Amino acid sequence: MKLDLPRYTERFGAISLHGVQRVYELDSGFNNGRTASETVQSIGNDEISEIEKKMAIVIPIKGERLKLLEGVLSGIPHDCLTIIVSNSPRQPVDRYKLEKEALEQFNRFVGKNAIILHQKDLGLSEALKQVGHTTIFGPDDIVRNGKAEGMITGMLLAKMAGKDYVGFIDADNYVPGAVNEYVKIFTSGIAMSKSPYTMVRISWIYKPKVSESGLYFSKWGRVSEITNQYLNSLVSYYTGFETEVMRTGNSGEHCMSIKLAELLTYSSGFSVEPYEIVNILEEFGGILPTENFDAMDKGVEVMQVETRNPHFHEEKGDDHLKEMFNGSLSCVYNSKICPPKLREKIIEDLRGRGILDEGQDLFPLKKISPFKDIDIHQFAKILHEKATSFVHSV
Ligand code: GDP
Ligand code: CO
Repeated sequence: MKLDLPRYTERFGAISLHGVQRVYELDSGFNNGRTASETVQSIGNDEISEIEKKMAIVIPIKGERLKLLEGVLSGIPHDCLTIIVSNSPRQPVDRYKLEKEALEQFNRFVGKNAIILHQKDLGLSEALKQVGHTTIFGPDDIVRNGKAEGMITGMLLAKMAGKDYVGFIDADNYVPGAVNEYVKIFTSGIAMSKSPYTMVRISWIYKPKVSESGLYFSKWGRVSEITNQYLNSLVSYYTGFETEVMRTGNSGEHCMSIKLAELLTYSSGFSVEPYEIVNILEEFGGILPTENFDAMDKGVEVMQVETRNPHFHEEKGDDHLKEMFNGSLSCVYNSKICPPKLREKIIEDLRGRGILDEGQDLFPLKKISPFKDIDIHQFAKILHEKATSFVHSV
């Protein structure tokens, strides 16, 4: 893959937030000693392949159409470990069973490794309880509903499988070629990164909408524009310079090194993606004290890469948009590093839009603790013994 070197970087404590990088060639060959220009880097197929072997791709899924899932599976490079974490209904039709069968059939044909697990499996909750990772539980002591909860389960499975990198791809993507591009971007970003603490986020070139006059290739989702605006305000407040560097606040498609992933605190449900950025600013921004000395020393890199493929996914209703909107703003608003002026601005904005009434406040989000200290062998042992939905085909 041939892509821009970061042209513009916002530095914030130990963090380098790189501006959006473009892709020039989806496949730049094997390099053979040829270097690209000084502003463009070529990541050869051999190097991409080596990183793919160390990467797990987590697909969180809840009741998506099977045809879409099958397409997504076909887009993931063979050498990545595929991990599906499902929260699909098991009654009246056992949707999970259908997903599992589709995955098993796919694996039989292509001879691939994969893991699938249901988020509500009591054996999973038992394993998490034994290793003390209980901030992911609801009041009933089982894993809560929510995309973040699925992603974190997936990260634990990736760590358990000994992977160094974990990427996330939604199950509702219509274009297998786009899925394939996301993973190539993940691996290229990892290859370009200079720190072992790295995150690569996908910036979609277009998010097409169907309109009366045909397809409309819009650039921005309704929520993401505002999420990015407030994330940028948060950075600007500290640096004293306005910035537009953050463009991927709501990006579901992103990857991290496990070394970074296991240090972060996560926010429940759909606020997970913007909160990753807020938490990186909290942990490594040098504003609050931290115990992560190695990451402070080596630095944390956040890259954002713009795809060539447009992003076509299932359009969900407005309820979900509202949840995302509130979640995104709440994770900035309730952050320990959010300045009072910015808090006032967020509340005014929400009142202006009729989302919050006078006197109402934005609820803090549920948080899930970092998983760096959990005993992963113990977790694996109990999961293998107790989780009935767990399938690990090698
Ligand atoms: P959007 O793309 O941001 O509008 O969000 P989607 O509704 O498409 O959700 C993103 C992905 O998360 C999809 O693959 C969903 O099926 C999946 N998802 C949503 N809720 C849950 C959940 O509670 N658990 C899991 N494991 N996946 C979920
Ligand atoms: Co979607």
